[in-house]
Amino acid sequence: MIIAIDGPAGAGKSTVAKLVGSELGLDLLDTGAMYRVFALAASRAGISENDQSRINSLLQETSIGFSESQPRRAILNGTDVADEIRSLEISQLASQLSAISEVRRAMVKAQQQIIATGDWVLEGRDVTTVVAPNADLKIFLTASIEERARRRWVEMIDRGESVRLQAVVKEVVERDHRDYTRDDSPLMLAEDAVIIETFDVSPAQVAGKVVALARR
Ligand code: DC
Repeated sequence: MIIAIDGPAGAGKSTVAKLVGSELGLDLLDTGAMYRVFALAASRAGISENDQSRINSLLQETSIGFSESQPRRAILNGTDVADEIRSLEISQLASQLSAISEVRRAMVKAQQQIIATGDWVLEGRDVTTVVAPNADLKIFLTASIEERARRRWVEMIDRGESVRLQAVVKEVVERDHRDYTRDDSPLMLAEDAVIIETFDVSPAQVAGKVVALARR
């Protein structure tokens, strides 16, 4: 079984996907983490989103993966980077780099290889439309921009980061705009996706709805 969940930043995709995965015994693929790991590699190498030839070389040289152990943690060239990829700077750079077709092609190929065997719940921006267009169940999670930014801010404060709510709102607005309007596979609603509004509903309730739909 493949369950694909798309939606904008902070819609609750990761939390819901984790709960659905553990309830139904599906492995979890966080596709956004892969763009983030690549962004971290670019940031460390001092490569900007405009440097196409260095980005192409970096795609060849970079190994992006996940730990064998659960919950899976993001790995860059053999090293755990799961915490480092969550900063505002890496969020922005991941969004910028994800607009580049060569980057998308490499990530989609790797993601399709990962889900070729086994049962998966995957989440991202293009998993219902490009990565797994034949998924058994497609979900589009959404909430207002204020609510999504507030969630991201709470996550960052809980991790001990000192960041202003307004800075996170600005970051989410910019990222939404870029993710929805890029030319290559923008975030969009698949015709056969079920839309679930996550405002004022607990992740467990949203996951319960997804599980019920999957069982049906
Ligand atoms: O889901 P996330 O916030 O971790 O994703 C980070 C960025 O990666 C997001 O702003 C856009 C990009 N992304 C993408 O283009 N396609 C995906 N399937 C997942 C993420």
